Amino acid sequence: MQDKTHLVDEITGHRRMRRNRKADWTRRLVQESRLTVDDLIWPIFIVPGTNVRDPIPAMPGVDRMSVDVAVEAVREAADLGIPAVATFPNISMELRDETGSHALETDNLINAATRAFKKAVPNIGVITDVALDPFTSHGHDGILRGEEIVNDETVEQVVQAAILQAEAGSDIIAPSEMMDGRIGAIRKGLDAAGFQNVGLMAYATKFSSACYGPYREAISTDGLLKGDKKSYYIDPANGTEAVRDAAHDVEEGADMLMVKPGLPYLDICWRLKEAFGLPTFAYQVSGEYSMIKAGALNGWIDGDRLMMETLLCFKRAGCDGILTYFAVDAARKLAGKT
Ligand code: PBG
Repeated sequence: MQDKTHLVDEITGHRRMRRNRKADWTRRLVQESRLTVDDLIWPIFIVPGTNVRDPIPAMPGVDRMSVDVAVEAVREAADLGIPAVATFPNISMELRDETGSHALETDNLINAATRAFKKAVPNIGVITDVALDPFTSHGHDGILRGEEIVNDETVEQVVQAAILQAEAGSDIIAPSEMMDGRIGAIRKGLDAAGFQNVGLMAYATKFSSACYGPYREAISTDGLLKGDKKSYYIDPANGTEAVRDAAHDVEEGADMLMVKPGLPYLDICWRLKEAFGLPTFAYQVSGEYSMIKAGALNGWIDGDRLMMETLLCFKRAGCDGILTYFAVDAARKLAGKT
């Protein structure tokens, strides 16, 4: 009678995959992708006032912060080695209007935050969004005329907002409003205003996703939004369209590309990196954060482990970095501080 162990050995022979997995040291030796603190961009929410730390119910562990509090948080992020933060303002309702005109105020909340961060913590990068949703009374990313989010008029305003953000010290403008032609127009506007060194991270492929819910609570647009954003965000069904959309951004002068949301769209990360070779980032958005937190808080999953696993998977999928609300937690873990 034939020995079963011998049989397996005949079949697998030299193809025993488990040899490289047998010990911690072999696993470390063959690890293909690695997450480091240099991969992390930390999105933060800013509110008016001083000494404010306001928890966001749908994002346990994430607070809206006034600029003074945020400065200290950003300092801690820089000390941990996090390369950059991305800021999102929650401005008072009285300042929001049909056209998002407050985006064009030199000293609005987002620009005040940038000024404070650049002054207090000059060695951390500041990335700012120019979408109009924090500033509009209807929660859309652009100017609403009747039923339509008007493209070209929005782009003109966004270009002006970008110049003001650059003046305040923003290092990278990341336009998320998905209007056509915005990357080229912002590049032109920045260059003409003398901001050749301010970079552009295109939210090249932003999908019309259910994952943005908690963010809308964070900046208080959840009760405002009329209709949906399907006429300007990409249909989750469309990968090839996303690559075509990103191609325009590359031609128009994007320095970096971003995919948003992250985890359900790893194929897009891979495709963009393969197609263009630009620095490519994923935004692990609010809903992704909240899902992991909810599972962990219920005791159903190991939240820390899943946090690190998902971040690593972005690297495997070709991303150069990740915007994540976990940035500080992950940085601490990587530093062996938790
Ligand atoms: C809109 C914007 C969104 C996010 C950031 N800016 C999406 C939206 O509200 O439609 C989502 C970020 C997140 O969910 O973490 N310009």
